[in-house]
Amino acid sequence: MLDDGAPRIAGKRVALGVAGGIAAYKAVEIMRGLQRAGCAVRVALTRHACEFIRPLTFRALTDEPVIVDDYAPENPDPIAHISFSQQIDLFLVAPATANLLAKFAAGLADDFLTTTYLATTAPVIVAPAMNPQMWHHPATQRAIAQLRADGVHIIEPDRGEMACGAVGPGRLSEPEKVVQAALRLLDAHGRARDLTGERILITAGATREEIDPVRFISNRSSGRMGFALAEAALARGAQATVVAAATSAPEPCGARIVRVSSAEEMLRAVMSELPDATIFIAAAAVADYRPVMRAPQKIKKSDRRLTLELEPTPDILAEVARQKRDALVVVGFAAETERVAERARAKLERKGLDLIVANDVSQEGAGFDTETNIVTLIARDRARDLPRMTKLEVAHRVLDEAKRLRAMQMADGSTAKTVR
Ligand code: PMT
Repeated sequence: MLDDGAPRIAGKRVALGVAGGIAAYKAVEIMRGLQRAGCAVRVALTRHACEFIRPLTFRALTDEPVIVDDYAPENPDPIAHISFSQQIDLFLVAPATANLLAKFAAGLADDFLTTTYLATTAPVIVAPAMNPQMWHHPATQRAIAQLRADGVHIIEPDRGEMACGAVGPGRLSEPEKVVQAALRLLDAHGRARDLTGERILITAGATREEIDPVRFISNRSSGRMGFALAEAALARGAQATVVAAATSAPEPCGARIVRVSSAEEMLRAVMSELPDATIFIAAAAVADYRPVMRAPQKIKKSDRRLTLELEPTPDILAEVARQKRDALVVVGFAAETERVAERARAKLERKGLDLIVANDVSQEGAGFDTETNIVTLIARDRARDLPRMTKLEVAHRVLDEAKRLRAMQMADGSTAKTVR
């Protein structure tokens, strides 16, 4: 059982590959971030990377040889790509150029980084950086799609002004974000696969209830909390399906994502996925009301007041709990701004849930569109206040509790309801 949800990465060995791009200098900051987190970092550069940054910089900061060419006379190990690739817990390439991505995707092995990619059994994560035109090119997008299919984790480039003056996506993701993504992946691979066999169905994001073809009612949910639950579930060996409405957070690698827009669509998708699930977690911010009528054309502006008539949306979580069958654990969230625990407990009772995650969304660093969250886990037999932690850590705590409740339900069939 996990005790604190904290990442387990001290002493992990990371191979940092650096390809030839203007962002190569940022690899130093990435390397330092990994070292600060307790990782042992070895660095390898492509020949072109050496045009942008000297191997000596990395050698001085890691106190390890930096490999550019494993056939170089000064390299003592003639099959360095094999030994190097077998001794690492993670292979991170930042920046990854269009050329390197294409080579990885095609399985070409004509230098140290490409041979290491083919030879390693460690998880691989790449942070592309290039001109927006090159990023959008179908050849690059084909390579990215192929790499995703091969299980490579991609850290999407940021949008912004490039060194060449172009504006768009292609800038290397901020070093801090690259480090966090690498640490999350290392953490995931270090975790016990204690949820193997579980099938976890999660709702995430903000539903959109259309007013007319261009306007809708929605909220500020980014989907980060729901995606973190999927990421944590996958790291622990479970299967994860996310029924996701509008989101702005990056999708978790390896989860099945079913896209929906409105509460009605979310209800239909959840009900069709539910028979397969063993744990259901409703992290989505579902609109409570929708317009009674959706105008078929854009509503024209006028000087008169406009009244929208709203009706309640279907309560997806309550419907799942109503149809609950044996040994399905049903977990809800409660986003509240006052009398948080009391109201969350009332929701637990009213909706017939096994667990509710009380979320005081008025607090700094909690709730909508934040990296962290502050929650209380309330089950029928106990409640636990958690301090502020990343949404991934919260997700692990929620899963710990769901796992405990599932074990209790399996042991005591009398607590389960029958299918209606
Ligand atoms: O997505 P993030 O930016 O990471 O933000 C995370 C979050 C704040 C959205 C998340 O932590 C959270 O609190 N989610 C629940 C938001 C919410 O709608 O709370 P509620 O108290 O209004 O609803 C209670 C529960 O019923 C929730 O589990 C909700 O998913 C569910 N619900 C609500 C209405 C409805 N029509 N159907 C539902 O299933």
